[in-house]
Amino acid sequence: MKQQLESIRQKAKEELQSVSALAEIDAIRIKYLGKKGELTAILKQMGKLSAEERPIIGQLANEVRADIENEISKETQIIKEKVLEQKLKDEKIDVTLPAKRNAMGHKHPLSIVLDEVKDIFFGMGFNVASGPEVEWDYYNFEALNIPKNHPARDTQDTFYITENMLLRTQTSPCQIRVMEKQQPPIRVIAPGRVYRSDAVDATHSPIFHQIEGLVVDKGITMADLKGCLESFAKALYGEDTKIRLRPHHFPFTEPSCEIDVSCFNCGGEGCPMCKGEGWIEILGGGMVHPKVLRGCGVDPDEYSGFAFGIGLERLVMFRFNIDDMRHLYENDVRFLSQF
Ligand code: DAH
Repeated sequence: MKQQLESIRQKAKEELQSVSALAEIDAIRIKYLGKKGELTAILKQMGKLSAEERPIIGQLANEVRADIENEISKETQIIKEKVLEQKLKDEKIDVTLPAKRNAMGHKHPLSIVLDEVKDIFFGMGFNVASGPEVEWDYYNFEALNIPKNHPARDTQDTFYITENMLLRTQTSPCQIRVMEKQQPPIRVIAPGRVYRSDAVDATHSPIFHQIEGLVVDKGITMADLKGCLESFAKALYGEDTKIRLRPHHFPFTEPSCEIDVSCFNCGGEGCPMCKGEGWIEILGGGMVHPKVLRGCGVDPDEYSGFAFGIGLERLVMFRFNIDDMRHLYENDVRFLSQF
């Protein structure tokens, strides 16, 4: 038995010397020290020994076990270090390799121009206001001096939700909401989405965008409107840009006008972009009607104001020479990636 134990010690140590993986060490442990292992098999025969032999063999068996376990933990440590070393070698990062670039998104052309417009008006001291897209008839029409049965309602192809609730057809209701909350001086723009029951074609969409403007203070005149919008047109289209005001009618302004800019393509000579006119219409505006001011609790004898409404899609289409409005909503990357 002594010899058997010594030979187990010998063999186990030899085998452990030549291992190269943790799994092999485990196999050796099971082979010698496991429940059905060689050392265990010998210990099971201890009963056959005499009372004198038993403690001697028992002690030796314990020594052999401790010896093998010791060797196992030594080898395990060595293999683990080797594995780690190999892993570090394999996973070395080459910091000089060129990086993979993530594809960047693009700002939508509507956002590009809107951001420019906002910046221009911020420069003139305007703030941004907003209002809900689901609006009361009162704000969208009534308070803007467009009572029920007013012919102006027919031109707006309104989506009604109930008799008194609708999808706003213009950003002008923001004027009312601002004046209800704030006493003059007021200087705001209100950009946003508006809705009209229009069939889709190259120049129409049931959803589009407007930018409303409102200035109310003591002594505001049509000259302020002209100066403000001329500065805007020059900032957007260049210093040489001229504007012209044509008389028009809006129920909520008096007097009202439409404003054209000299064609930024031909400078006023006439070209296909301005259809030979030399001028391009970009917005409507006027002096806020005294009835509208009074309805919002602003005294028209003390204050006056001007308002304007810009169609964002038109600005964008002229700016980037886009011939079909539908491109702006279809989100085709081949289109969007050009901006
Ligand atoms: N809300 C008008 C429209 O949708 C545009 C407009 C015209 C707005 C004149 C104004 C304004 O504030 O003064 O056709």
